[in-house]
Amino acid sequence: MPATSTEPDNVVFQDQKPALMESRAELMAGLQMDQKRVNPKYFYDERGSELFEQITQQQEYYPTRTEMAILGEYATEIAEHCGNDCVLIEPGSGNSEKVRLLLDSVQPAAYVPVDISAEFLYESAVRLGREFPWLNIHAICADFSEQWQDRTELPDGRRIVFYPGSTIGNMEPKAAEAFLSDLRQWIGSDGGVLIGVDLHKSETLLNAAYNDASGVTAEFNLNILSSVNELVDGDFSEEAFSHHAFYNTELKRIEMHLVSKESQTVKVNGSKIQFDKGETLHTENSYKYSLQDFSELSDAAGLVLGKSWLDKNELFSVHYLTVA
Ligand code: AVJ
Repeated sequence: MPATSTEPDNVVFQDQKPALMESRAELMAGLQMDQKRVNPKYFYDERGSELFEQITQQQEYYPTRTEMAILGEYATEIAEHCGNDCVLIEPGSGNSEKVRLLLDSVQPAAYVPVDISAEFLYESAVRLGREFPWLNIHAICADFSEQWQDRTELPDGRRIVFYPGSTIGNMEPKAAEAFLSDLRQWIGSDGGVLIGVDLHKSETLLNAAYNDASGVTAEFNLNILSSVNELVDGDFSEEAFSHHAFYNTELKRIEMHLVSKESQTVKVNGSKIQFDKGETLHTENSYKYSLQDFSELSDAAGLVLGKSWLDKNELFSVHYLTVA
């Protein structure tokens, strides 16, 4: 792809060829646990990415539009925190939609989108490069949940990691702390983290956001089975499971599960996985934080919450963190 490419002059593409082999072992291990589970990163095959895009347009799903409104409204203030000539790094950049809201204000020395999907990343980077001809784009294809930092050479400059979308909510709080702590090491003492975090709120609003009336979230949840089938040669049937999402108020997280409609046996990688009727496959946690919770999490990771921006209904938050 890059060798024969016709990308604009301001786009560099570096392919670290993330290995998909570990995925198999990880998936199998999850399916063999007492509470069967799948890592939510497997939602995002082509169909899954489309369905997620549709979720973000559902009336009940407030996070995406709310975060984008915050980024747009406070772009100037955010830029002041980022300072001049930063290197803006976005792990899991997807179509780089949100960063567009910041570029004119932040004017980074370089933008570094990092994503696991090579083709999608390449196309998104090229499109962005044409739209922002003054912007240096250094795209890196890597699995950012692995140790991609070690192998990555970046343009010089103060490093700011942009991590929108409340993706951090998919991690267990301990893993989120470790993730932030890794970022802290990596950005150096003068770096920053600009991160979007969904807020704890009424159960009714949260349950609605993950049970949209059109059933798009249900379809998204069920679609993970086709990724699993693909990766571990399975014969999961979407018809044999139903979508279940609820807010676990004690743990402050949305849990998504797929409930087995009947007792059934599923074949994966030549072995058999048995489901009782009503037994679930746990597909996602989406943790919600209060400002206090998130401030404590940042502290524990050695970061300081410098500034928080919220929408007026306090549904969603964007934070600027610096190194303690
Ligand atoms: C992309 C992880 C932020 O948790 O809200 C949307 C994924 N799952 N609907 C979220 C998701 C169900 C989303 N994140």
